[in-house]
Amino acid sequence: MQGVTVVDHPLVQHKLTIMRDKGTSTASFRRLLREISLLLCYEVTRDLELTTRTIETPMAEMVAPTLEGKKLVFASVLRAGNGLLDGMLDLVPAARVAHVGLYRDHETLQAVEYFFKAPSDLADRLVIVVDPMLATANSAIAAVEKLKGRGATNLRFLCLLAAPEGIERFTAAHPDVPVFTAAIDERLNELGYIVPGLGDAGDRMYGTK
Ligand code: PRP
Ligand code: URA
Repeated sequence: MQGVTVVDHPLVQHKLTIMRDKGTSTASFRRLLREISLLLCYEVTRDLELTTRTIETPMAEMVAPTLEGKKLVFASVLRAGNGLLDGMLDLVPAARVAHVGLYRDHETLQAVEYFFKAPSDLADRLVIVVDPMLATANSAIAAVEKLKGRGATNLRFLCLLAAPEGIERFTAAHPDVPVFTAAIDERLNELGYIVPGLGDAGDRMYGTK
């Protein structure tokens, strides 16, 4: 699928299987999501541009690679996005953070916004939007629209699980935003849940069901 990268690393797939298992505890689910986020972060940042700077090692002067451009922005779609965000900040501690508060109305499946806070200079930065689930894509589409409305032009979307229907809708709405996911599942059910999926990511992370 154009614009979609499936991160099929064996460690990601192994951890994802444990997360899907309904017998996995809240504590383990949270820990695994954090671990997977490190691996996904590695993949979504794989082609970041480098420049060089001159440094002195204890042995010699050298021209060494360093990341080019302004610090990244990680945009977490609340609540469940925070499960990916925490691990990503372990890898890129200097990243700036945006929070996009959205919940899915259970009747209409439309995304309802309740919070937004982001750095003011989004236009100058790569913005990586993180949310474990891409189901109908209503939330992802709304989050990216909001960020674009605040100036972001260079975005990527990172999730753990995607439904084929969600990928199709998201890439139609935002063809300029590449998607990274650990798996593309079979389908959405009549309630808009990903099947086989892993259930409600936010509830499983926080034990709220
Ligand atoms: C979940 C998930 C996504 C959204 C995906 O959030 O984290 O944000 O659903 O579904 P969609 O693609 O059909 O929009 P939810 O609304 O349950 O909120 P939560 O993270 O606070 O639990
Ligand atoms: N949100 C979730 O957390 N899980 C799904 O399967 C769909 C939307």
